[in-house]
Formats: sequence, C-alpha cells, structure tokens
Amino acid sequence: MKQKIIFATLIGLVVLASAVWYFGIRIESPQDNPITEPKLTVVSTEEAAHKNELTIRNVTDETVHYTIKPLGSDNEPEMKSLEVGAIHRIPGDSIMKIFFRSAGETISYNLDPGMPYSFRYDENDELELYDGSSGRIDQVDLAPFVPTPMVIVEKMLEMSEVDKGDIVYDLGCGDGRIVIMAAERYGARGVGIDLDPQRISESKIGAANAGVENLVEFRMEDVTKSNFSEATVVTLYLLTESNRVLRPELERQLRSGAYVVSHNYPIPGWEEKEIEFVTIMDEGGEEHYIYLYQR
Ligand SMILES: C[S@@+](CC[C@H](N)C(=O)[O-])C[C@H]1O[C@@H](n2cnc3c(N)ncnc32)[C@H](O)[C@@H]1O
Repeated sequence: MKQKIIFATLIGLVVLASAVWYFGIRIESPQDNPITEPKLTVVSTEEAAHKNELTIRNVTDETVHYTIKPLGSDNEPEMKSLEVGAIHRIPGDSIMKIFFRSAGETISYNLDPGMPYSFRYDENDELELYDGSSGRIDQVDLAPFVPTPMVIVEKMLEMSEVDKGDIVYDLGCGDGRIVIMAAERYGARGVGIDLDPQRISESKIGAANAGVENLVEFRMEDVTKSNFSEATVVTLYLLTESNRVLRPELERQLRSGAYVVSHNYPIPGWEEKEIEFVTIMDEGGEEHYIYLYQR
C-alpha cells in the first residue's frame, strides 16, 4: 500500500512538472501571445540592412501583385500578393529581380539584399517601387527619404515669411536641413520630427555644425502621433496620400493663421486654403512645385 502511494505521488509530480514546463514555455513565448507581446523586427533602414533582410512594404491603398526570383535563377518567378500596409520580408544574400505591372507595362528592378523598398504611387498616381521604408508595421510610413534641394528650401522659407518669432516644424525632417536653415538664416526656432534614427542623428550633427543647437530640436517620432500645435510654420515633403493622412491633425492642431508649405505634393481638400503656388527649378534644372497654405 505504502509503495502504491509513493508510486502515485511520483507519477503526480512528473505530470505536474511536465505541465509547469510545458505551459511555462508556452506562456512566455511571444508567438503564442502576439497581442500582449508584439514582436517588431526591422526598425530602421540601417537595421534592415544589418539583418540582411530585404523588405517590401505596400504604402498604396490596394493589394499589389508582383513576381520575384533571385537574379540569374532559371526558375519561374514566385507570385506574391502584398496587402495594403503589409510588409514582405525576404532574407538572404541574393539580389532579387522583381516584376510588377504599372500603367499597362511590366516594370522590373533588381533589389539589393538587406535593403528596404516600398510600393507607392508616383506623381502620376501610377504604381512605383521606391527605395526606403521604415520597415515598421506599427508606424505610418509617409515617404522615403529624399532631401529637398537647398534652393527649394530657401524658397519655402521665403514664401512662408519665416522670421525669428516663428516656430518651424518639419514633419518628416530627413537630415534636418529645413529647420536648420530657418534657424541659421532667420533665427527661428525649429523642431524636426522623423521616425528614422539615422536621420535624427544626421540632423543633430547638421545643427551642431551650423551652430544652431540652441534653436532646434529633433524628435524621433511618428508624425501622425506627434504634437506640433505650437508651430507657426509647418513644412512638408511627403506624398499626396500622406498629406491626406495628416490633414485632420493639421486641422485639429494648428492655430488659425499658421502657414503650411509643401514641397511638390498638394494637401487634398485644402484647395481653398492655398494662398500661393510656385514652380521653381533646382540647380540641376529639375522642376519643383511649392504649395503654400494658411490654416
Ligand atoms: C521626402 S523626405 C523629406 C525630408 C525633409 N523634410 C526634406 O524636405 O529634405 C521624408 C521623410 O519623412 C520621414 N517619414 C516618413 N514617415 C514618417 C512618419 N510617419 N513620421 C515621421 N517621419 C516620417 C522619412 O523617414 C523621411 O526622412
């Protein structure tokens, strides 16, 4: 009888230990509990490169269909569908060849391993694949990094009549050039916001080199969740669909009379607020548009 009790106790202990081990591992595993422990992998352009993981993000408003295969491979390309806002991740060292349809044509590019790309609409509203993407599923990816040429920055600041009483916010500030020039030339205070840490470091270095660190500040944030209500001038170089996303926040946060100046892309729905529009050439002879709005 005593032996039976010891045996049953041992069996019980083994079952209990197995259950603790099994459920303990499962409870801690992030894959089993994605809601409380979201696992974000790629954080920035740079980190994507370090991870050797090519990412393709869909920043359009429709599912994108494409085919892809390693460059030089004799295999049939693989067919893929990328949902709105989703990211495909392709690990490995191979250059990939991608094909997609746009404006009735098949377009093909070679994509580098480890680099981020995004499907967006071009200025003619046609599907295009661009370099760069934040690669983060929890942030709104409004535009890839393309700096505004300096002559265009000058004109944007001139049109919005920036002076030292102003607070200039550049939403998606890239290397910070707009707020740095506003501070350096006009003594204006400025805040640059970007979600890419690499851009924020470049901006801080640029501000230090220009000697305006006391006038400007750079924040690593998603501008769709930022407070920019103190701005007297907002500068934008995003895309039309991104301006549409930001418009309700611009309307909610900005005081009446604030200027919003946008490089190349209009703010849909703000036609009546547009007070000036100019077309201007950069140093290379390329045409740019500047839209000036008043809130
Ligand atoms: C076209 S660049 C413009 C850079 C700068 N404003 C200029 O005109 O030179 C767009 C910038 O927006 C940033 N960006 C994209 N989505 C963003 C978001 N949700 N929040 C903050 N920055 C964002 C990108 O990282 C990129 O640096």
